[in-house]
Amino acid sequence: MSMHLQLSPSILTADFGRLADEIASVEQFVDQYHLDVMDGHYVDNLTFGFSTVEAIRRTTTRPLHVHLMISNPHDHAVGFVRAGADRVSFHPEVTPDPAAVIDAIHDAGAGAGLAVHPDVTLDAVRTHLDALDVILMMTVRPGWGGQSFMTEVLPKIERAAALVRDAGARADIEVDGGIKPDNVEAAVRAGGRILVAGSAIFDGKDAPAAAKRMRGLLDELRSS
Ligand code: DX5
Ligand code: ZN
Repeated sequence: MSMHLQLSPSILTADFGRLADEIASVEQFVDQYHLDVMDGHYVDNLTFGFSTVEAIRRTTTRPLHVHLMISNPHDHAVGFVRAGADRVSFHPEVTPDPAAVIDAIHDAGAGAGLAVHPDVTLDAVRTHLDALDVILMMTVRPGWGGQSFMTEVLPKIERAAALVRDAGARADIEVDGGIKPDNVEAAVRAGGRILVAGSAIFDGKDAPAAAKRMRGLLDELRSS
């Protein structure tokens, strides 16, 4: 496997009182950052909005991927591009016209992705495949950090990777939820090329050490 495997820490379990330091502490080991926006409606939890993304944008030059777990992505996706997101992904089952949201994200100058809830099929991915920059395969139920990786999603990741390959499409397969040192290989073997890791990195102990370890594992897998 020769393609670079990207590490994308989710800041969900970072210490928000010292977020800039937390982000900087892992920067040398990571490719991009994963920012989980939750609205208390699509999911029970609430996180943050535009102003936090803008603030993060000022602290790092790495790309920012905003993962919208909100029920009205059409209303807010462009706002997150303006706040500094390089990519915005949303859950298509909540919006009547996913193509319009994808187009709006592209027109605003960012990459667009569909996030695939563990209970949702690949139908929307198949329909919009040519327009996608990223397919965000969820391996936990959206809402919280620190949940266990759902191995039952692995075959669906394989199917998503096959769709991309067979169509010659450009979308990156990103795997999100419960990624830890002991399951990252399975996510990569299934076709994951961008690996999100939240609580595996921001564990309240030693984030740089955890990020360095995960970076090393991905580099080993790449050359294996
Ligand atoms: C879950 C979020 C994930 C989460 C990942 O709703 O979309 O991105 O932050 O965190 P861990 O790696 O702890 O599952
Ligand atoms: Zn996420």
